[in-house]
Amino acid sequence: MLSGKTILLIIAGGVAAFKSLDLIRRLKDQGATVRCVLTKGGEAFVTPLSVSALSEEKVYTDIFSLTDEAEMGHIRLSREADLLLVAPATADIMAKMAAGLAMDLATTTLLATDKPVMVAPAMNVRMWEHAATQANVATLASRGVLFAGPVEGNMACGEYGFGRMSEVSDIVAAVIHQFKDEPEKADRPLTGVRAMVTSGPTHEAIDPVRYIANRSSGKQGHAIAAALAALGAETILISGPTALPDPTGMTIVHVESALEMLAACEAGLPADIVVCAAAVSDWRVASQADQKMKKDGGGPPDLVLTENPDILKTLSAPSPTRPGLMIGFAAETQNVVENARAKIIRKQCDWILANDVSPDSGVFGGDLNTIHFIDADRAEAWPKMSKQDVAARLAAQIVHHVIGDERGGQDGD
Ligand code: C5P
Repeated sequence: MLSGKTILLIIAGGVAAFKSLDLIRRLKDQGATVRCVLTKGGEAFVTPLSVSALSEEKVYTDIFSLTDEAEMGHIRLSREADLLLVAPATADIMAKMAAGLAMDLATTTLLATDKPVMVAPAMNVRMWEHAATQANVATLASRGVLFAGPVEGNMACGEYGFGRMSEVSDIVAAVIHQFKDEPEKADRPLTGVRAMVTSGPTHEAIDPVRYIANRSSGKQGHAIAAALAALGAETILISGPTALPDPTGMTIVHVESALEMLAACEAGLPADIVVCAAAVSDWRVASQADQKMKKDGGGPPDLVLTENPDILKTLSAPSPTRPGLMIGFAAETQNVVENARAKIIRKQCDWILANDVSPDSGVFGGDLNTIHFIDADRAEAWPKMSKQDVAARLAAQIVHHVIGDERGGQDGD
């Protein structure tokens, strides 16, 4: 029931922590990947060794451990999870969550996440009933935090009442319930795939108020990001300045210049698929003026230009972080296929969508695009179609490539 799901289990310091070991096993029985964060308090009840043995994953304990931060920062821990589950959730960790504190790896990850969070509270009955805890529960619930329990029963401290952690089977059921309304995987074949799309123009500053730009609208790149996200890809859209609204269902990074776009792309790695649809300025001003340039005195300035890095080429170069599928665009006016093939070789990318940008094509700023799809051994001429349809057709090719799904393929059309 949880196949393909990654649960980030945060084990806080409560007597019920011993049940978390069973919880790991039961979640894994359902097909989930379980990655664990142990708080200092949690470590007093269960050892990292037993947690890692059961989860068959590395256990994360310390935000200041440089190795962990380099290998898998707290952002990535949350990014790679489908659900954060705090079990046991002590009164203390819930108070920290409600207050937005980031004191250790667990609380920092909980503050940094945009994924669903579920808590399984476990504490003494009077701690549970305390007005402070109840206020925190209300705050967390109002923010969308999900609750599994607590339940009424005998406590480790010898008392009876509410505050006992839910049975492991009930927590697992609550986790399964959380995912039950998700669209079937068949509708979202790129689930688990990380995609990055560049879009729009770049602005290259001359001085604080002037810049060099181009007429790219960003419509094609934005449509591709939306198509990939709709198919379930975890999508990052890195956009230069456009007039378009931010699409939903993805992470959006706004940049101005080519250098910023490259830095944002590199920060977004690793990715499985990168589509470079941005019209990146080939040049920037070699040295930007700190103050607005004055027209008085000495005539027009000499603008010395320097070349911008080629983002598509940089990301396509062989490296351990090279995305599996690098896709670029090529604006051509003649010899479309030959020029695009040469570009695949020069930039070491995998696919090129060559578009006809002859003056009467209306591609820049328009809603239609005429594409030649080109890879190492294929060239398909796509009919003139809307940028949305180009995005959908490219996304289908990507599905076909990634999972070999016949339904995604467009071959032979
Ligand atoms: O070489 P040309 O500009 O025609 O290549 C276009 C392709 O390269 C597009 O996919 C564009 O997004 C990408 N590109 C880039 N960085 C640059 C220039 C182009 O990513 N500096």
